[in-house]
Amino acid sequence: MKLKLLDSKFSEIKIINSLEIENGNKTLVIMSQGGKERGYKDILESLTNTKLNKTQDIFVNSYPSLKNLEELISNNSSNMFTNVIAVGGGSVIDTAKILTSFIGVNNPMSLKNTIGSTDILSSNIKKPHLIVIPTTAGTGAEATQFATIWDRENNKKYSLDHPNLLPDSVYFVPELLFTSSYKTLLFTALDTLSHSLESIWNINATKDSLEFSSKSIQNSFIYKNLDLNAKEFSTFKSLFKASYYSGKAINITRTSVAHSISYPLTLKYGVPHGLACSFTLDAIYKICEINIDNSEKLNTMIRNSLKNLKKLSLNKELNNYLSLNQSLELIDKMITKDRVRTFSGNIDKETIKEILRASF
Ligand SMILES: [Fe+2]
Repeated sequence: MKLKLLDSKFSEIKIINSLEIENGNKTLVIMSQGGKERGYKDILESLTNTKLNKTQDIFVNSYPSLKNLEELISNNSSNMFTNVIAVGGGSVIDTAKILTSFIGVNNPMSLKNTIGSTDILSSNIKKPHLIVIPTTAGTGAEATQFATIWDRENNKKYSLDHPNLLPDSVYFVPELLFTSSYKTLLFTALDTLSHSLESIWNINATKDSLEFSSKSIQNSFIYKNLDLNAKEFSTFKSLFKASYYSGKAINITRTSVAHSISYPLTLKYGVPHGLACSFTLDAIYKICEINIDNSEKLNTMIRNSLKNLKKLSLNKELNNYLSLNQSLELIDKMITKDRVRTFSGNIDKETIKEILRASF
């Protein structure tokens, strides 16, 4: 199949600039085991028109754990790679972002200590060039300077946040979504919607972030009423656009209360991230609507998107994982200071209870 390659302005280009890819042991390629089986390395060769037979390749798992990442860093951070290429979904991209930021750091501290104090990353002037090709559309990880780390042993989630994590080049290949299941497309696209709304009802919102959120919603499947089962190039291009712009929006603002509520649901009950961070959106909007001063055009777009979201009956999907009562037991863990303080409105345990009751 001849693949169409888009740059980060969503213009079609012929090949990835070969200057960015050095065909030697200075290039590290990161993908998932599934990506390997799907032939992403061959695809990468055709996108770069280069035989990549000397690269070092790493295959990673979904939801990278603290332990997995510590191991990857200690095995690879002293190798002087000039390029890192990540081909994959949010987990692969986040792993690549974290690892790349450590490559070239002298005497790195443990990842856990670096999360608390990222100064050591700032002094890293040898960081390789990070090229990202997302194969799922939704996390926006290709446009953010932070990465999620799951500590399943302690039921905790961390975020490493530093400018060195921001990818240097991003490319999109919409055809790579053709093999995604409906649920993968749906949940990742819901994550995108959550990012754009969380960035809007956010105390850190700026003119730029609102513009990115607005661009994201304009391209979102839910606002445009796109059929995810239709498997059309134009739909997949829209999904990538929505994801990328919402990533750019949260890169300015960070996420907020919907994400704060979602983390314990994913950690304890395995609720897919995109579902966990989107089933509350309508209830949250009702709480903060009066506090946010958007243009009428943007407000109408938000309301129409939420109206369409309701039609998906996400509560039914959620009930496959847990009940309202089980979610109410997690309220204490749903209030993470970093996320809740960005919300344009007051959030306490009672408000979260209200949001959960209205959403289940
Ligand atoms: Fe998210």
